[in-house]
Amino acid sequence: MPPLLSSWGADEVIDYHKVRFDEALSDYDDVFDTLGGKQLERAFSIVKPGGKVVSLSGLPNEAFAKSYGLPKWKQWLFKLVTTKLSRLEKKNGVAYHFLFMKPSGSQLAILTKLIEQEKIRPITDRIFEFDDIQAAFNYSQSHRARGKIVVQMIADK
Ligand SMILES: NC(=O)c1ccc[n+]([C@@H]2O[C@H](COP(=O)([O-])OP(=O)(O)OC[C@H]3O[C@@H](n4cnc5c(N)ncnc54)[C@H](OP(=O)(O)O)[C@@H]3O)[C@@H](O)[C@H]2O)c1
Repeated sequence: MPPLLSSWGADEVIDYHKVRFDEALSDYDDVFDTLGGKQLERAFSIVKPGGKVVSLSGLPNEAFAKSYGLPKWKQWLFKLVTTKLSRLEKKNGVAYHFLFMKPSGSQLAILTKLIEQEKIRPITDRIFEFDDIQAAFNYSQSHRARGKIVVQMIADK
């Protein structure tokens, strides 16, 4: 296993250029998807019935539209565009959730506690000063960061 990934706590590592994850893995409780498209569709087959597929990059579905209080016509539209995902939910007995990040002070407070207790270990790749924000953005666009890119609003004294 690549030492970097094992040091981050991965139990199993798959090189997606060589192996399809849905052919190598099975019987998971949940999947957290950050890719969407075909990769998201494949995730349903590796989750146990009763489990969840949560995606940052998939399509928002009817349940998401309802929870956001969107008008009926938008709920219907979201239902229509996620027909394939709904079929996969039914076929596999797995629930699909679209996750949309929103700032929440109370959730951040929980995360801060978990970080202080070292239950979550944030991984920082590089810290840029605010004046170098363009360089930070370019680095992000390179897709080569190994961890978070931080823009520091106030320089260390
Ligand atoms: N819903 C929301 O609120 C929300 C919030 C934040 C982000 N997002 C979305 O979440 C997605 C991920 O964000 P990110 O910042 O992590 O993107 P990113 O920096 O572009 O990283 C994408 C990662 O996916 C890997 N990858 C590409 N194809 C893969 C495959 N077939 N199997 C496994 N891994 C693969 C890439 O690996 P390589 O290094 O090998 O290229 C890369 O490490 C983006 O689409 C973003 O728009 C959504």
